[in-house]
Amino acid sequence: MDDFTLLPIQLDALLTNEQNTFANLANASALLMQTMPEINWAGFYIFDINNNDLVLGPFQGKVACMHIKPSTGVVGASFTKKEVLVVEDVHKFPGHIACDSASNSEIVLPIVVNDNIVAILDIDSPKLNRFSLSEKDMLTDFAKVVSKHYYL
Ligand code: SME
Repeated sequence: MDDFTLLPIQLDALLTNEQNTFANLANASALLMQTMPEINWAGFYIFDINNNDLVLGPFQGKVACMHIKPSTGVVGASFTKKEVLVVEDVHKFPGHIACDSASNSEIVLPIVVNDNIVAILDIDSPKLNRFSLSEKDMLTDFAKVVSKHYYL
């Protein structure tokens, strides 16, 4: 497996001096998609506090569901549990929302600003059990860098 430990540092450099959150999320998803092998979707669901809803934000990949309730799917489970979730086989996850039928495994990570979850980073793969523990750690750092460059 390639070593992606520098990816959070690369993201930090890429987003320095840009204070538009959508531009930052767009390039964060593009960086993941162009760097990580065997992924088919990378992007963000943004929490809409007024409607208690997670809404599709900047992403790379096929068209996806635009609204996810906090009570549904892998994205909603990460939001509700306030946890990074690694799903080895999405077909075994109760309530999984299949946006792209090619997806077989998934990792979701909360983006936390001022102790509140403002968004969820979602990455899908066509490969079963695609996301290793070391990648989970790297992506946890990556999500922290996104939080640093997230302006409310
Ligand atoms: N699979 C996700 C839905 C989002 S797509 O994967 C882009 C879920 O179950 O929440």
